[in-house]
Amino acid sequence: MSAEPLEIYLTEQDLDRSLREDVRTGLTADPKWLPPKWFYDARGSELFEEITRLPEYYPTRAERSVLAERAADIAELTGAKTLIELGSGSSEKTRLLLDAFTRHGGLGSFVPLDVSVSALRRSTARIAADHPGLRVRGIVGDFTRHLDRLPPGGRRLVVFLGGTIGNLLPDERAGFLAAMRGALEEGDWLLVGTDLVKDPSVLVPAYDDAAGVTAEFNRNVLRVVNRKLGADFVPEAFTHVALWDADQEWIEMRLRARRPMRVRVLDLDVAFAEGEELRTEISAKFRPERITAELAAAGFTTERSWTDPDGLFGVTLGRAT
Ligand code: SAH
Ligand code: AVI
Repeated sequence: MSAEPLEIYLTEQDLDRSLREDVRTGLTADPKWLPPKWFYDARGSELFEEITRLPEYYPTRAERSVLAERAADIAELTGAKTLIELGSGSSEKTRLLLDAFTRHGGLGSFVPLDVSVSALRRSTARIAADHPGLRVRGIVGDFTRHLDRLPPGGRRLVVFLGGTIGNLLPDERAGFLAAMRGALEEGDWLLVGTDLVKDPSVLVPAYDDAAGVTAEFNRNVLRVVNRKLGADFVPEAFTHVALWDADQEWIEMRLRARRPMRVRVLDLDVAFAEGEELRTEISAKFRPERITAELAAAGFTTERSWTDPDGLFGVTLGRAT
């Protein structure tokens, strides 16, 4: 079966409007910030894929090892008929689940949802070609806004991999989990990947690699704003910053102005002082008890939780109760 045409819940105009709102809010705030979802145009999605192969960036390898070990258990335990993936990107690790479900039998459809049209086009075409019996329906949408549009009924398993839940601020995360529970029915399943708290000597290089790929990924948000809104950021005039916030237990990525600058964007004239920082992403790291507690607060019972052999990354299977 070939992939169905993408279902578009976010048109180019919606994306444009929401980027304008975010730029106006974030660049007039003190300190300045931009939400991480704007990293992922075609180039940003490619840069992220490159990050996943870096020696310093352990999360993808660690999560893949958990899924390789546990995919058959997940298929058996959940017996899902529909597999929904949020922030699916390339869905590369999800293939381990799809293969396990194919062996187990019973999975009818795969529904990846992402803001990145380019990533979805590529992943849905490949997965449909490799899984001829599967209905593949990609959704262009925002997982903080469109959970009410997920396909209803059947026995559903929603997967949210890579630690992307950690890119939400704590309030956003609580809102996301509550909305997720609201979108599911009792008995449906949620599989979440979370990066775990560990020594900053491991964490920081994962977000500040020697080859400078993460720095390019970080600056890409400025390129997106330039291209989409005709802004005149000079990305090279910003230094990539990745720091560990030990109180919040998150990595924070920032862009630091190397010199005083004025940037024209929309009808704004945005001034940056030398050394001023723009926050572009947080990446929260978790302790297992916090994941279970946050899932419970939203109405999910933790049925299983696993880590890779080195204890770097966690994968938690919750059930809507
Ligand atoms: N799940 C993949 C990709 C992680 S990268 C993995 O584990 O490797 C994060 C993905 O989430 C990107 O593909 C990005 O486009 C998507 N994304 C980020 N914010 C989003 C949002 N608000 N709604 C939907 N997708 C989002
Ligand atoms: C997608 N997300 C989980 C990645 C992370 O690790 O927070 C994004 C990323 N940012 C820098 N490197 C990778």
